[in-house]
Amino acid sequence: MKRIVIITGASSGLGREYASALDRRLAPDEFWLIARRKEKLEETASRLSSHCEILPMDITVRSELDLLENRLQQEDVQIIALISAAGMGRIGGIASHSRSDTVNMIDLNCRALAEVTNICIPFLCEGAWVLQIASVAGFQPMPYLGIYAATKAFVQSYSKALHYELKDRGIHVTCVCPYWIKDTEFIGIASEESPDYSFMPLALKRSDVVEKSLNDVRMNRLLSTPGIISSCERYLSRIVPDVLTMKVLDTFRKMGTK
Ligand SMILES: NC(=O)c1ccc[n+]([C@@H]2O[C@H](COP(=O)([O-])OP(=O)(O)OC[C@H]3O[C@@H](n4cnc5c(N)ncnc54)[C@H](OP(=O)(O)O)[C@@H]3O)[C@@H](O)[C@H]2O)c1
Repeated sequence: MKRIVIITGASSGLGREYASALDRRLAPDEFWLIARRKEKLEETASRLSSHCEILPMDITVRSELDLLENRLQQEDVQIIALISAAGMGRIGGIASHSRSDTVNMIDLNCRALAEVTNICIPFLCEGAWVLQIASVAGFQPMPYLGIYAATKAFVQSYSKALHYELKDRGIHVTCVCPYWIKDTEFIGIASEESPDYSFMPLALKRSDVVEKSLNDVRMNRLLSTPGIISSCERYLSRIVPDVLTMKVLDTFRKMGTK
C-alpha cells in the first residue's frame, strides 16, 4: 500500500511550500499535486525527491473531483497528509464584487474544500495530518474583505468539528489561520480590483507559516496562528465586540488606501 500526500493549491504559494517541507519530513511514496495549472504543478514536482502524480483540475468542478475519488478507490493507497491550500480572495466591498467573484470565493474556499476533504476521509490512515488553510480573516467579520472573511469563518468552524470527529481515529486536524503572506500569488490576485490597498504591516513569509503549522499539527493543535497579529486576533476576537473590531479594521483600511 502506497503512503501518499495530497495537496490542493500545489502550483504555487503555501501549497508548493508544504510540498517541499513534507518531502523532507514525511518522504511519502507519492505526492498527488492538485491545481489548475499543469506546468506550475510540474515545476513544484521538479523540486521534490518523492514521486509525484500531477492532477491538473479545477476543484470547484464536481465532475473533476469524481476523477480524484475514482482514482483513490482504484489504487491501493493510504493518505498520510492532506493539505487544503487552494483558495482565493478579493479585496473590496461586497456590493462591488461581480457575481462570479462572489460565487467563486464561496465555491473554492468552502464547498470545494469540504468536498475534497469528504472524498479523502475514508483513505486517511491513523496518525495522518490534515491541514485546512483558513485565515486570520475568519476570526471576525471584515468590511471590504467580507465574503472572503465569511468563507474563512466557515473553514474554521468546519475544521474544528472535523478535528473533534476524527481524533478517535488518531487523525490530527489543524486549521491554519495566517495573516497576510507576502511571498505567494494571493495578494496580487486579491487586489486586482483594489490595487490601491497596501496596508499589510508585519506580513508573513510562507516558510514561517508552513513551519509553525507543521509543528502545530504534529502536536494535534486545533488552530495554528502563525505570527503575532494572528495570535493576538485569535484571543481579541473572543472579547472585543464585532462592531468595534470592524470600525478599527476599516480605519486601518482607509489609512492603507493610497
Ligand atoms: N497569502 C495570504 O496573504 C494569505 C493569508 C491568509 C490565508 N491565505 C490562504 O492560504 C491559502 C493558499 O494561498 P496562497 O497564499 O498560497 O496563494 P496562491 O499562491 O494564490 O495559491 C492559491 C492556490 O490555489 C490554487 N487554485 C485556485 N483556484 C483553484 C481551483 N479552482 N481549483 C484548483 N486549485 C485552485 C492555485 O492554483 P491554480 O491557479 O494553478 O489553480 C494556487 O495553487 C488560500 O486558502 C488563502 O486563502 C493566504
